[in-house]
Amino acid sequence: MADISASFAGLSLRKCIYNASGARSMTPEELAALGNSEAGAILTKSCTLLPREGNPEPRYQDLEWGSLNSMGLPNLGYEKYIELSPELKKYGKPVFASVSGLSLEDNMKIIEAMNASEFDAVELNLSCPNIPGKPQVGYDFEDTEKYLEEISAICRKPLGLKLPPYFDFAHFEQMAGIIKKFRVRFLSCINAIGNALVIDSEKEIVIIKPKGGFGGLGGRYIKPAALANVRKFHELLPDIPIIGVGGIFTGRDVFEFVLAGATAVQLGTVLMQEGTSCFGRVARELEEIMDKKGYPSLERFRGKLKVIE
Ligand code: DHB
Repeated sequence: MADISASFAGLSLRKCIYNASGARSMTPEELAALGNSEAGAILTKSCTLLPREGNPEPRYQDLEWGSLNSMGLPNLGYEKYIELSPELKKYGKPVFASVSGLSLEDNMKIIEAMNASEFDAVELNLSCPNIPGKPQVGYDFEDTEKYLEEISAICRKPLGLKLPPYFDFAHFEQMAGIIKKFRVRFLSCINAIGNALVIDSEKEIVIIKPKGGFGGLGGRYIKPAALANVRKFHELLPDIPIIGVGGIFTGRDVFEFVLAGATAVQLGTVLMQEGTSCFGRVARELEEIMDKKGYPSLERFRGKLKVIE
């Protein structure tokens, strides 16, 4: 049987597939279910300084080709996740904290506290699209550099970044140039495509309540954008492990992300729609493809996507 383990940021995952932040990862019960599942790691919902209720409902809708959400960062507050961290370690897999403070100062306080937690690593979220009045940090290159200067100076856990999708080669290059200056241990690409709009034409109405119906698009709609971001960052930053996320529903999808350069992958919309059984299913589908192709491990084909000469 093919080996689908992965290592990055000094951590070993028995399976390269785990949850995307936000998908079934907010409450102690949801995190325990991830622990008990075949997921290769546990990643929390993005946390803020204080607990938050989030945006008014309806704020998440499944769609035939994915999902639309404007959750507004509902979470239990960083202290609760730190308190849970020793219990989460008991599942015997790496445990990641997603951090999404509402300001640089908030992020500094949270990361400072994370240093003394049982979390194995931090995924700093630079790409939440759903807080009215708060632009995505990852689309402001000056702000991103300032965040990284301050945060990388105090973060003693391996630090990764959750990036928004980029759509222009100049932006990939600018972002890669900034990331290179700091000790960033992994990149999770991509967050939802922000501020998308889905319309119910029968009722002539939007499908979620916050922000006039605008929300983060996930699922199959965004897979080509996610693959492009993984590919481009892998090319520009070959020494930084890339975690692929966006529209992964099957083992074949994972295979494509690894070909594009991913070291591991996260499941978001499919986890929302199918529940935690998706981890075992997708893992087995990936193993089957690798066995058929004769690849004993992910290294054998990682980044080896061919182009047409
Ligand atoms: C939320 C959505 C995101 O895409 C994200 O990165 C963080 C938070 C949310 O709406 O809760």
